[in-house]
Amino acid sequence: MTPRSSRKSSAGNDAPRRADLVIVANRLPVDRVEAEDGSVGWRRSPGGLVTAIEPVMRQNDGAWIGWSGAADDELEPFVDDGLSLVPVTLSAAEIEDFYEGFSNATLWPLYHDVVAKPAFHREWWDAYVRVNRRFAERAAEVAADHATVWVHDYQMQLVPAMLRELRPDLRIGFFLHIPFPPTELFQQLPWRRQLLEGLLGADVVGFQRPGASANFVRLVRQRVGHKTHRDRIYLPDGRVVQAGSFPISIDTAQLDELARSEAVATRAKEIREQLGDPRTVLLGVDRLDYTKGIFDRLRAFGELLEDGDLTVGETVFVQVATPSRERVEQYRVLRDEIDRLVGRLNGDLGEIGSPAVHYMHTSYPKDEMAALFRAADVMVVTPLRDGMNLVAKEYVACRYDGDGALVLSEFAGAADELRQAYMVNPYDINGMKQTILAAIHASPKDRARRMKAMRRTVREHDVADWARQFLSVLADAQPEHHKHLRPATED
Ligand code: G6P
Repeated sequence: MTPRSSRKSSAGNDAPRRADLVIVANRLPVDRVEAEDGSVGWRRSPGGLVTAIEPVMRQNDGAWIGWSGAADDELEPFVDDGLSLVPVTLSAAEIEDFYEGFSNATLWPLYHDVVAKPAFHREWWDAYVRVNRRFAERAAEVAADHATVWVHDYQMQLVPAMLRELRPDLRIGFFLHIPFPPTELFQQLPWRRQLLEGLLGADVVGFQRPGASANFVRLVRQRVGHKTHRDRIYLPDGRVVQAGSFPISIDTAQLDELARSEAVATRAKEIREQLGDPRTVLLGVDRLDYTKGIFDRLRAFGELLEDGDLTVGETVFVQVATPSRERVEQYRVLRDEIDRLVGRLNGDLGEIGSPAVHYMHTSYPKDEMAALFRAADVMVVTPLRDGMNLVAKEYVACRYDGDGALVLSEFAGAADELRQAYMVNPYDINGMKQTILAAIHASPKDRARRMKAMRRTVREHDVADWARQFLSVLADAQPEHHKHLRPATED
């Protein structure tokens, strides 16, 4: 089947052959949209990764290898809006075992501090190996001689070594978007050595935080027995693997511009009116995931109402929870728990026309999100563990007015950079209650001072900067083997 695109698109003839830059990620950077007449098209997914990588992809004949999100999708490579996309097919059984199973019920909870119990199943592992090999083989076909291949995230950890085996000429980078667990937790994995060896196929292995990078190097020394010095790993064949931290960011300028638009300003005003013109709007925006701390955050808010520190109607909590991984058991359980809690809070504490919590189980387009950010006095980002958390940065990018307070978990990667946020330990409900109150009652001067500093951070370090830094470290790796990648020019 040949997909038709919602934008300029072609398939077959000008499909990518040999690209100088290849991105390997579990998902393609487009979402399938079905028109009323049944024809299939593609819309660019909202994620920041594609925005970051797009310019450098365009300048280097880039290709992106990924899964469409549907079962048994046999798609030919195609070009969408000038980007070469190379779909990889997953069967329904592989979606269960590789995606829902090993990726999202083994690795995801294990890498997030086991906030849910990881399940270990040998058949899930077998599917993970099989699917990683398929991605590696696809990359080996698509990459030009001495090309650069950038592999992304926990679903693809075996790809670097598999790819190196097939194509030793390539320059290979790997970036983990989620946390890398402490040694003690990683050791639980029956396949810990294979995963480490998989990653060691890369020239550069990048993490969000320096601690994660240090964990990785220590594990390689202890478990695989390679020599290491600081953030370098020396392999017996003479290859050197460089580990490091590269905190990801957002397209700050684009969001800032969107937030300043007339349409967003009008919509933000309208949202506050629709909420009943409360004195304070608190906002949470997350994928509906047990790592995000949504339950404890809402509980803390409920207690503040019960204690009389806050009043229904004067203060509202808007929680947007984007549906995610809905076939995985732990996500279903979480959804039921949140449904029950919101029902209880509104049943016990709400009044006619004034619910305590406005709960939306949906996703919104970027402009609606920008309006919500502008409408929110306090943004509450309280994950139990998070690789980075881009919502925190997006909120800051949208507050060009210098107002708004960010309550941020110290267990989000973003806490390293957004130091002026109101920090909380999300496991400490009383502490969280106090900090939310402090954020609500902070003086405009204090809020503005903090916001100004955080805005400087996200302006100076945006997602293009992140991609440039990673690719430049990768370009310097083992230069004798590789030709240089043309960096994206800033314009
Ligand atoms: C996190 C992961 C990504 C993943 C995204 C959405 O941000 O780091 O790799 O794509 O969640 O999850 P999904 O399972 O829908 O791809």
